[in-house]
Amino acid sequence: MKFSKIYFKLISSFALILLFGTMVNIAAKPSIKKNPFGKTADGKAAEIYTLTNSKGTEAKITNYGAIVVSLRVADRNGKFDDVVLGYDTLDGYLKDTAYFGGIVGRYANRIAKGKFSLNGKEYTLVVNNGENHLHGGTKNFETMIWKAKSSIVKDGASLELNYFSKDGEEGYPGNLKVKVIYTLTENNELKIDYSATTDKDTVINLTNHSYFNLAGAGSGTILNHLMQINADRFTPTDSGSIPTGELRNVKSTPFDFSAPTAIGARIEQADEQLKLGSGYDHNYILNKNGQLLTLAAKVYEQSSGREMEVFTTEPAMQFYSGNFLNGIKGKNGKIYQKRDAFCLETEHYPDSPNQPEFPTTVLKPNQKYSQTTIYKFTVR
Ligand code: GLA
Repeated sequence: MKFSKIYFKLISSFALILLFGTMVNIAAKPSIKKNPFGKTADGKAAEIYTLTNSKGTEAKITNYGAIVVSLRVADRNGKFDDVVLGYDTLDGYLKDTAYFGGIVGRYANRIAKGKFSLNGKEYTLVVNNGENHLHGGTKNFETMIWKAKSSIVKDGASLELNYFSKDGEEGYPGNLKVKVIYTLTENNELKIDYSATTDKDTVINLTNHSYFNLAGAGSGTILNHLMQINADRFTPTDSGSIPTGELRNVKSTPFDFSAPTAIGARIEQADEQLKLGSGYDHNYILNKNGQLLTLAAKVYEQSSGREMEVFTTEPAMQFYSGNFLNGIKGKNGKIYQKRDAFCLETEHYPDSPNQPEFPTTVLKPNQKYSQTTIYKFTVR
């Protein structure tokens, strides 16, 4: 072989190595892409942000309602699937009544009869769940356009969303500035940092309302998922899902998930609370030590090998077993039926504004509301 040929070969192999290296490097970095996602009924433009990490995990989040539209994570064979329920288009979300994926508030979960008193004054909220107020009302945070700012941060790809909730919105007192930061980390975590400030005493309870199916959205029942919840107690409810005030030990009840147990193992048992909730739709009081970020739940799906851990600084978590899903047409034409997904809504106890013995949800002008929740994905 001529010297020039060897030289040429060497140079081209070097160039190839360089090119390949650059490609791997590009693919290996966290990234964010922004695309249009349609318009709301009043003509406001929504956008959808695609956050990826170097492992190929991908979260799509829209600034309409701060909704997690899709979350693609690998199974044990490296096959990616979308593990959250949702719709293909903004239109689906505009008509949604199941609260798929968004940030609900000003008060997530229920406030009895849509009324509470603060500093001696009674406030009347929108009633949208029987005689009660649910998830912040009909014009809740999940139906608003949030101001978005995306960036690559130390942890990964990050999307900051801001919403200004006016004094009197849905009946709540005080102008409230809300900030939610989603970060898709290099550790396959979707981290949600919430914060808020007010100019008048108010109540606040924020959560994310994602519906999960670890075998893939629309792949059927979640009754075989193994659920573990780090809680010794839960709050039994009345027929309107309002806590009675009792803090009941889960021991010897179908609510005991202290060891991994199939969601469906006891769901049809003759149990007063399961009957009242049409399944699991209850607030668990997390075992914690102060305000620290601690494990709230761990869910495992055997066929895919996916496991999701939930960590939170919040004192409680609503476990909802998708009891009211009733044939909703979701992404890729898939139909979501009863118990095809579950929600783990990290939050304060329902109806806290009316139950002074529960941890307070009052926010004052000189305070800052803040909480962090992490959904972490692994395989085994
Ligand atoms: C929450 C509630 C449920 C139900 C869903 C939305 O999880 O606790 O009762 O309203 O939201 O359908």
